[in-house]
Formats: sequence, C-alpha cells, structure tokens
Amino acid sequence: MFQYEAPEGARLIQVWINGKEWTVPEGLTLIQAMWYTGHEVIHGIGCLGGVCGACAAVYRMPGNFRLFNALACQTLVKEGMAFSLIASYPTQRAHYDIETLPDPKEGLFELYPESATCRNCNACTEVCPQGIDVRTSVWQAAFGDFKGVAESTMSCVMCGLCVSRCIAEMAPHEIALYARRAYGSRELPFPENLRHRIDAVHSGSFDRDLERLSHLSLEELKQECGVK
Ligand code: SF4
Ligand code: SF4
Ligand code: FES
Repeated sequence: MFQYEAPEGARLIQVWINGKEWTVPEGLTLIQAMWYTGHEVIHGIGCLGGVCGACAAVYRMPGNFRLFNALACQTLVKEGMAFSLIASYPTQRAHYDIETLPDPKEGLFELYPESATCRNCNACTEVCPQGIDVRTSVWQAAFGDFKGVAESTMSCVMCGLCVSRCIAEMAPHEIALYARRAYGSRELPFPENLRHRIDAVHSGSFDRDLERLSHLSLEELKQECGVK
C-alpha cells in the first residue's frame, strides 16, 4: 500500500473521510490525506495535476449546509472538512464516427436524444469544479452552436460531476465532447502544422529515431528524457 509522508512540523487538523474521523497534517490535498490515513486510492486518481478529471470529490464544512465539489488532487484539507471521493458515474456513451455523420446537428439528437430535454435547473453549472457554464453549453449544443460549446467547455476535465446532478439524466460532458468533435471536424480548417507533421510521420522521417529509442534500456530512456 502507498504510504504518504507528511511535511515535518505541519499542524494537525481533524477531517472526516467517508464518514470516519481522522487526524491529518494541514497542507495535504484530499488525495494525500487519504494516502496518509492508509486508504488505498487506486481508482479515482490519474494525473494528480488537475487535468484528467478522475478525482471528483464532494465535501462539507462545519456549520455550512452547502455541499461543495472539487478535484481531490487540487484541493487542500481544512479543519473540520468531511469529504468523499465520488466513484465514476455510469454514462451512456454514444459510438460514432464524426467524419461520416451526414448532419452532426441532427446526429446529436439521434445519438443523445436527451440533449433536448434540459430543464434549465442550472445544477450542472453550480457543481462544475472548472467553473464552466454547463447549462448554457447544453443549450448551445441543442441549437447547433458547436463553436460556442467548444469555446465554453474547453477546460472540461471530464470529471462527470455534472452527470451526478442532472435532473434530465443527461451527461453534459459527453454532449460537449460530441459538439467539440463536430466543430473541429466540420467547421475548422485542418491545421497546416499538423498536416505537415502527419505527412512527415507517414514518409518515415522519424523511423530511425523510433527504432533507436525502442532499443534503449529504462535507465537510458530516463537519461534521454532528462528524468532522474
Ligand atoms: S462540465 Fe462536467 S465533466 Fe466537465 S469539468 Fe464541469 S462538471 Fe466536470
Ligand atoms: S443539470 Fe441537466 S437539466 Fe439542469 S441545467 Fe444542467 S443539463 Fe439542464
Ligand atoms: S488526479 Fe487527475 S485531475 Fe485529479
């Protein structure tokens, strides 16, 4: 089991993890506090850098009825905090090839018919740890404004917290992903730089380097990448 060593001399505080009281040093993230108290956190973490969205958590503070949401790798424990990591929410993920859909705007309602049933409650926006106006993005998608969706949801980390609150039982982040794909594939010109790089890969420009790297030991690879 992974053991987390807390910084020396840190002040100790009381927290509740999954309903049980623990004493942990101040300055830890929620995930570090779980490690410190011996919890085996295998599912629910990935990048530890606020990017992958795997570590959605909910918490309450003493004397406050509000339920807060956070990424557990980006949020520090506070005195009296009660928190739990949220297991991933099951979602209905549509399978499609965005390039071959006859009409992506129509396609949205075929693949995600629930995207037309938003009840405007705004719970998805309130829960989003990235501060995205999720409700508006759902409406933008329903009206075929895929550019608007792409612009408003670019910082989505796919944590799924919006799914946990939607009273229309939709997965706003999957709808936004569809809209971003449709926008990138159908409305934006193909990036020239990317075209050049793909052509270079296909013409074998990197074959020799790849061959050399594939024969390096782990230590040599670390040296190559500047990793100690
Ligand atoms: S839109 Fe949904 S999945 Fe994306 S970051 Fe916000 S709550 Fe998480
Ligand atoms: S939580 Fe669901 S129903 Fe409520 S505003 Fe967001 S998408 Fe619409
Ligand atoms: S572990 Fe990736 S966002 Fe927290």
